[in-house]
Amino acid sequence: MSAEVRIRELGPGRYDVLDAVVEGLSPTSRYHRFHTPAPRPTPQVREALAAVDGRSHIAVAAFAPDGTPVGIARLIAVGDGQSELAVEVVDEWQGRGIGGRLVRDVVERGRAAGHRAVRAAVLAENVAAQALFFTVFPAAIALPAAHEIGFAAELARDGVLCAA
Ligand SMILES: CC(C)(COP(=O)(O)OP(=O)(O)OC[C@H]1O[C@@H](n2cnc3c(N)ncnc32)[C@H](O)[C@@H]1OP(=O)(O)O)[C@@H](O)C(=O)NCCC(=O)NCCS
Repeated sequence: MSAEVRIRELGPGRYDVLDAVVEGLSPTSRYHRFHTPAPRPTPQVREALAAVDGRSHIAVAAFAPDGTPVGIARLIAVGDGQSELAVEVVDEWQGRGIGGRLVRDVVERGRAAGHRAVRAAVLAENVAAQALFFTVFPAAIALPAAHEIGFAAELARDGVLCAA
């Protein structure tokens, strides 16, 4: 279980946390997250990932008992109440419920900050992320494209997650 793992909101400029989590991803996990075989994000992407503001760009991170960062989820508003959702958990800690906890946490913060709907592009081969999104958003809409599946879900006011 992941009960001993703590989740906290991530402030701006936490390159240390970003780098530690990317470092803990296997090549396959990095590819699933960033959709590129590059070993690490470009400086521009890294800067954008660190530029959280707690409202239009919200990030939460999971920390192991020894303080090691083990995962991040983020919501980035893209206009009209719509937000891009992304999540990653280091391989060593996958399959213990941390991804689900991170997504639920960031979604609750996003809802409180006025985010109304989320979407995510998931590679067709990425069964773990598909399972995660359907677990957290049981009524999500999934639109298959060539190599990706586009997920969309609304964040209802009463706390129930429903289809977009
Ligand atoms: C996708 C990812 C974040 C899942 O994180 P995780 O901590 O392993 O997920 P959880 O343990 O919280 O599992 C959440 C749900 O997904 C299911 N799941 C997780 N991995 C799975 C797998 N490989 N196959 C099938 N189901 C899986 C779990 O059973 C769980 O469902 P349940 O609650 O109904 O049992 C993680 O695999 C990861 O970081 N992958 C690389 C990056 C990525 O793909 N990001 C998503 C694209 S933005």
